[in-house]
Amino acid sequence: MIITIDGLSGCGKSSVARLLCQEFDLPWLDSGAIYRILAYIHNEDSSSLDVNLNKLKKFDIKFTLDGKIFLNSKDISCDIRNTEIAEMASKIAKNPLVRKELLIIQQNFIGTKGLIADGRDMGTVVFPNADLKIFLTANVKNRAHRRQEELQSMNKSVSIDSLIASINKRDRRDLEREASPVIPADDAIIIDTSALSLLQVVTKCRAEINKIIGNRSF
Ligand code: DC
Repeated sequence: MIITIDGLSGCGKSSVARLLCQEFDLPWLDSGAIYRILAYIHNEDSSSLDVNLNKLKKFDIKFTLDGKIFLNSKDISCDIRNTEIAEMASKIAKNPLVRKELLIIQQNFIGTKGLIADGRDMGTVVFPNADLKIFLTANVKNRAHRRQEELQSMNKSVSIDSLIASINKRDRRDLEREASPVIPADDAIIIDTSALSLLQVVTKCRAEINKIIGNRSF
């Protein structure tokens, strides 16, 4: 079973995906983290983007359902969750060659049972044949508050105003780029999470998953 959860940054995609992965015993792909890892490698190593892309392809990336990300067994979760890497990842993500190479890396995450993949173009480009496509939206203020809570849990403090400005800037890049702009797939189910708690969003998604499980055998 392949489930995609797309949307702009801060809609709660990763938190929803992780909870659903636990419940339905599916592997998780946090595709945004792959772009962030490439940005992190590129930040540490001044070689060309091509060279760093090849480096990334040889690395072992693991996601754990408590939200940790391991690169060759090293926990880099905190190193990639900062505004500098987010900004760099968003710029790198405009590059069509990067998207082409990361497409294969992302598709290789499918396990025997399938996966739940969250990102921007999971339902439109990376897994167009997904069994269920969900697209989350939320207003920018809510998203900035969620980002702030996430950063606070890592003892990082950033003001709401600067988070709103950085989200707006990244939104523009994500929505306006030529290669895979963020748009819901035609067959996606759209959920506005602005007024919903995480568990309410999970409840809505669970209902959609149970519908497809009821209709097909996996
Ligand atoms: O979801 P995130 O904030 O971790 O993503 C970081 C950046 O990666 C985001 O600004 C855009 C890019 N991205 C993308 O272009 N396509 C995806 N499927 C996931 C992320």
